[in-house]
Amino acid sequence: MKKVWSIILIAVLTVSTAACGSVAGDDSAGFVGLAMPTKSSERWVKDGENMAKEFEALGYKTDLQYAEDVVENQVAQIENMITKGVDVLVVAAIDGKALTDVLQLAKEQGVEVVAYDRLIMNSENVSYYVTFDNLKVGALQGKYIEKRLDLKKEKGPFNIELFAGSPDDNNAHFYFKGAMSVLQPYIDEGKLVVSSGQTDFNQIATLRWEGAKAQKRMDDVLSSHYTTEKLDAVLSPYDGISIGVISSLKGVGYNQDDMPIITGQDAEVASVKSIIAGNQTQTVFKDTRKLAKKAVDMVDAILKGEQPEVNDTKTYDNGVKVVPSYLLEPVSVDRSNYKEELIDSGYYKREDLK
Ligand code: GAL
Repeated sequence: MKKVWSIILIAVLTVSTAACGSVAGDDSAGFVGLAMPTKSSERWVKDGENMAKEFEALGYKTDLQYAEDVVENQVAQIENMITKGVDVLVVAAIDGKALTDVLQLAKEQGVEVVAYDRLIMNSENVSYYVTFDNLKVGALQGKYIEKRLDLKKEKGPFNIELFAGSPDDNNAHFYFKGAMSVLQPYIDEGKLVVSSGQTDFNQIATLRWEGAKAQKRMDDVLSSHYTTEKLDAVLSPYDGISIGVISSLKGVGYNQDDMPIITGQDAEVASVKSIIAGNQTQTVFKDTRKLAKKAVDMVDAILKGEQPEVNDTKTYDNGVKVVPSYLLEPVSVDRSNYKEELIDSGYYKREDLK
């Protein structure tokens, strides 16, 4: 009986390990651990797959793990990678402040760390950061609203509600700051009105970027403040949040003919379809192929003892040090340019968006 149980246990362990990650390639050139936050958002799946493919093409072995947005899982996965002997870790943190101890362990084992897309906070053991210009992502969202409501010319007032991302993700603060650099003056002069009064980051943040949480907050805001007033725009930092917001708006009768301007980020398939259908209005496209390629170039340089290329040494202070960064350029996408940016560039096939 004991034997039967141990066989079952081994089978269960094998299945559960296979479900959240995979080891591939041989380690003649080096071994790289890729710790990604979750598979629930399609972008991270692409990020992980793109990196694994590129690393393997250069002869590196990879261990790609997803933590399903559970901080403890991610810490355990990173510990495990260190035990397995990785040379470098590429990490997209769930909670940017939760990795200080495990990165100390990495340091003790001589493992270098590259922060991927999201900055890792409170640790000196982060060698480099590769990301998109996060302030610019927010500014593109703000400018899109400014342009579509023609705020420079129109008197308004227009009604807007604001959403932000996960408070434990440094990016969320940058997106909000970038967007408000454009929108705040219009709020101050009364041209944009936030009827809910919820304008502080902590009031509008969405833990773990969950669409369902955003939907709930939008439901509450609509039922308390918009029974007679119409909403003209929603600042949303991320496609998953935009989808939640749109469900809520549909629930009270908005449709593609009178939807507010709704921004987003990541150009995920569901949101691009929603843009084509006239529900979501905009997204910010961050080509994960380019981000993955840049991360691979950085790690390759590190392992060859060369200096990785960086283009920003001022912006990303993680509380302990300013992390040398490479920032890529985000692109605003709506109905007018999605074909050119997303299909002509080969990011999606036409059929993917049907
Ligand atoms: C952020 C990332 C965004 C979006 C969000 C939710 O850190 O920069 O592009 O993916 O997480 O996954």
